[in-house]
Amino acid sequence: MLTNSPIFFLGLFALALQAIPRVASAPVQVPFGQFLATVRAANFQQWRHSAVDSEASFNQMKAHVLDIYSGVGTVKHSFLHDGRYADCIDIHRQPSLAGRPLATAPIAPLNQPPATSGGPTGPTAPIDSPLTQNLKDPFGNDISCPDGTIPFARLTLERLTAFPTLAGFFAKSTTGAGRAPHATRELEGELEGRGPAAQPHLYAYGFQQVTNYGGHSWLNLWNPIGDFSLSQQWYVGGSGANLQTAEGGWVVYPQHFSTKAVLFIFFTPDDYTTGCYNLECKAFVQISNKWFLGGTFDQYSVTGDGQRGFDLQWKLFGVNWWLFLRGPGATYDAVGYYPGSVYKGGQLTRNASLIEYGGEVTRFTTADVWPQMGSGMFPSKGYSQAAFQNTIYYNPRNEDDGVGVWSFLTKVVVGSTNCWDINITESAQGGGWGTFFFYGGPGGNTC
Ligand SMILES: *[C@@H]1O[C@H](CO)[C@@H](O)[C@H](O)[C@H]1NC(C)=O
Ligand SMILES: *[C@@H]1O[C@H](CO)[C@@H](O)[C@H](O)[C@H]1NC(C)=O
Repeated sequence: MLTNSPIFFLGLFALALQAIPRVASAPVQVPFGQFLATVRAANFQQWRHSAVDSEASFNQMKAHVLDIYSGVGTVKHSFLHDGRYADCIDIHRQPSLAGRPLATAPIAPLNQPPATSGGPTGPTAPIDSPLTQNLKDPFGNDISCPDGTIPFARLTLERLTAFPTLAGFFAKSTTGAGRAPHATRELEGELEGRGPAAQPHLYAYGFQQVTNYGGHSWLNLWNPIGDFSLSQQWYVGGSGANLQTAEGGWVVYPQHFSTKAVLFIFFTPDDYTTGCYNLECKAFVQISNKWFLGGTFDQYSVTGDGQRGFDLQWKLFGVNWWLFLRGPGATYDAVGYYPGSVYKGGQLTRNASLIEYGGEVTRFTTADVWPQMGSGMFPSKGYSQAAFQNTIYYNPRNEDDGVGVWSFLTKVVVGSTNCWDINITESAQGGGWGTFFFYGGPGGNTC
């Protein structure tokens, strides 16, 4: 937790700490202006005991934080949620716009699911965003953002200096690995060689090679234990150095986010050389104040009990990749979009050629156990024990309205099936869940 971290105190209160005895772990309110002033005044000496590898890397991190916030203007409301600050930033001054006006691009129309036959495999309970629950933080601030602003997870030096370099912070994981699995399986040898402690990323997923404009699934939400464990969708186009992706789902990644699963999106325009999570670099333009990218949820699935989760859809419409999320109720929220420009005229400005859905894990050193995947249970345990994704379809056209096409997924397990597995049910047998799968497992020492 941020507020318990010695580095947090070291960085923000280095001077104060010399004067007063370090006491409680009670949260301290840090207004946005004070946070930014502390970043401006920060120097490498204060952070040399963090993971940052050099003064040059530290200076890059500091420059990035200052650049991100350079145009945001005044922040009138901030809140602390689950140990992390969010600042409500004027939608027109968000970093990804870089001073340009908010696009007048029409919001993409959502693709509806194809017809189902039969009933669901089990009941599911959509989670709503914590920002809609009328919650208050420990200081009495509303855990929500007013209209006209978007929740922006505070980019602190404490978060960045948990990594050796700025590139390591941006990457899908600390090693710079964690690619769209199928598209780059031939590259795994290279991935595994990266960095002294680089460990491979291991997967249980389904894929289909098909021209698509995004797609959809309902992601059952859990809190697996470990260094890095996620459930997500990948839309992939191009190849080699021009590989491009739009991705989203939930991830447990304590070094970067939290020990609890957080909502995330990710993109790369250039085979994971650049790209980033959420709003952490200038790319994704958010238009909704309802969803907190990088934030935890306030409800998770319970073994043998309520199965929580959310609908997520990516849709390429015009040249923009739109993100939709849905909690309870019929309405999807258009959360925002990756402007076509982030893909620099590449394949994802036209279409994607590969869809993938599933789980991914990694560990950071050989001393760590491989994380749990999904709920930590094998797919054979089935509903309310094993994690799943259902209602998995892709968008077949860049069109004004549309109905999806059920995905027809081929199974791949990377790693030992003693650690995790995936059991895909195609739409013809899927009943009310359409195409779905159970996946996951306990991880362990030899995966
Ligand atoms: C998808 O994109 C590729 C490469 O940009 C292009 O050659 C192809 O014609 C596109 N497919 C469709 C159906 O538009
Ligand atoms: C795979 O899932 C289907 C549908 O839920 C189920 O009937 C089947 O028993 C499962 N197979 C295994 C090996 O778990």
